[in-house]
Order: sequence, then C-alpha cells, then structure tokens
Amino acid sequence: MVLGALGVKMSLREAAKAVRLNAHAPYSQFKVGAAIRSASGAIYVGCNVENVAYPEGTCAEAGAIAAMVAAGETAISEAYVIAGAALPVTPCGGCRQKLAEFGDGAVPVTMATTQGVEQVMTLAELLPGTFSASHMEE
Ligand code: THU
Repeated sequence: MVLGALGVKMSLREAAKAVRLNAHAPYSQFKVGAAIRSASGAIYVGCNVENVAYPEGTCAEAGAIAAMVAAGETAISEAYVIAGAALPVTPCGGCRQKLAEFGDGAVPVTMATTQGVEQVMTLAELLPGTFSASHMEE
C-alpha cells in the first residue's frame, strides 16, 4: 500500500500505527506495522501476515519493502516499526538484511511501541558487517 498520494500528509508513525491494525497475527497475537519513506518522499506500509504453516508468515518490514518495490522505487530514506509491546520492537535479522538491500548504513530506523516509546538506530548499527554486493566481487 502506498500512502501520501492525493496530497495526504501523514507521518511515518501515523502510517505504521494505522497499518498495524490490519496485521494478520492470529498465532502470535503480536501485531506489527512498518512504514518506509522512499527517496521520492512517498510512504509505503506493511504489516505482518502470519500463516497456519508458520514459516510462511511474513514480517511487516517485508510487506512495506514489497510495496515500495512494486511501486517502482528502490531507495529507503527512513523506516519506522511499531508494535504493542513494552519495549520497542527491533527488526528481525532477516528484515535487517532486507532493509539493507534498499537503504545505506545511515538510514534511521525508528523502533516504537504503541504507547509512544521510541528508539532510533541506523541500519549500520542494526546490521554491522552487512553482507553486500561488494562481497561477491573477485
Ligand atoms: N515481526 C515483524 O513483523 N517484524 C519484526 O520486526 C519482528 C517480528 C512479526 C513476525 C511474527 O508475525 C510476529 O511478529 C511474532 O514474531
């Protein structure tokens, strides 16, 4: 889903909080929302989508990234992840790698709770020693 069309101004937090409500999390009961601002300034959102075959579930960040790429964009400038927990939810290892595919190390990732606690870390801090295309050069 892309937000920001029709001139609607929405913050990343508002976007992530809103999409979180659509999360399909009947197995963990842990709803997560993610919002990404791309290089163009548009906001793309995603929520976790669980599956009865547990490993087939997808994270909120993956959904937001898929929406961004489907819209023809490939550069993340900022990301926001929110969940209803005491501590800000941190992206899982796989999602850190997925975010790093489209954002450089300086990209700020805000991890938040629905109660308003926020923690900001860069992608480089979240994934030190990121595996990148340069590692495949001979
Ligand atoms: N989850 C996310 O969507 N993003 C994260 O950053 C952490 C975990 C989801 C996956 C699963 O549906 C639920 O949270 C519990 O792990």
